[in-house]
Amino acid sequence: MTSISSSAASLRARAIPPLLETDPDTKATLTRAIDLSIPVGAGDHLVAEGRIPGRPDRPLLVPYTKLKKRSAATSAGRAVLLHALAHIELNAIDLALDIVWRFPGLPDQFYREWTGVAQEEALHFQLLRDHLRSMGCEYGDFPAHNSLWEMAEKTQGDLLARLALVPRTLEARGLDASPPVRAKLAAAGDHRAAEILDLILRDEIGHVALGNRWYRYLCTQRAHDPVAAYAELAVKYKAPTPRGPFNLEARRRAGFADEELALLQNPRSAVVAERQ
Ligand SMILES: [Fe+2]
Ligand SMILES: [Fe+2]
Repeated sequence: MTSISSSAASLRARAIPPLLETDPDTKATLTRAIDLSIPVGAGDHLVAEGRIPGRPDRPLLVPYTKLKKRSAATSAGRAVLLHALAHIELNAIDLALDIVWRFPGLPDQFYREWTGVAQEEALHFQLLRDHLRSMGCEYGDFPAHNSLWEMAEKTQGDLLARLALVPRTLEARGLDASPPVRAKLAAAGDHRAAEILDLILRDEIGHVALGNRWYRYLCTQRAHDPVAAYAELAVKYKAPTPRGPFNLEARRRAGFADEELALLQNPRSAVVAERQ
């Protein structure tokens, strides 16, 4: 095992301090400061000592079902909605950093690309945090849920499952969720928030595209059929059931195949096809 200190110069080791960092602002700043050009240390087996991920005392984490839905028409409701988005982005920083340090043995490009994703997530968090501050709120002011990180924990032993269920499932749901949320914010007259959501959606298509590309790379390496393997992983790890409406255009641009989009819209078609 290589400790963090003995390979502190590698890109993968540099993912650990921001992952363990508890202060959200510092986490985002440290993440954005990682130099993507340094040696990767792809083969190193790293140890992260500390609670993963580092989290602030606030927000209070509660089950998803305990969170109240608020109307985006009022500024108080909008703050709750933007806070929820900032929380997703903070989790997304940790998810991308975690994939970088945890899984050794991939091409250097894998680690540079996912560190780049962490940096974009850090920017998304900062944009939403700044906008919240302009409304008189701070990140931490409202309760939040932990279901994104729960999927990271469930899949920490298998990179194929992590790629299938985090970028290709949870982040891809974000592509579907974005247009209606953007429309609500714009209808409430919050054009800055709508602008931030446009930037986030553009970047998130790229993140899901990376998820698709590296998922298929691993499927090829392990001689798995990508569609069949996904169906098995979704059951094994209890992936959330996909619910429309789907942002098919964004999903297509993110590299989902026609067969995958058809299954998403009609999961029973797989069963029908097998019986024919
Ligand atoms: Fe993001
Ligand atoms: Fe993302």
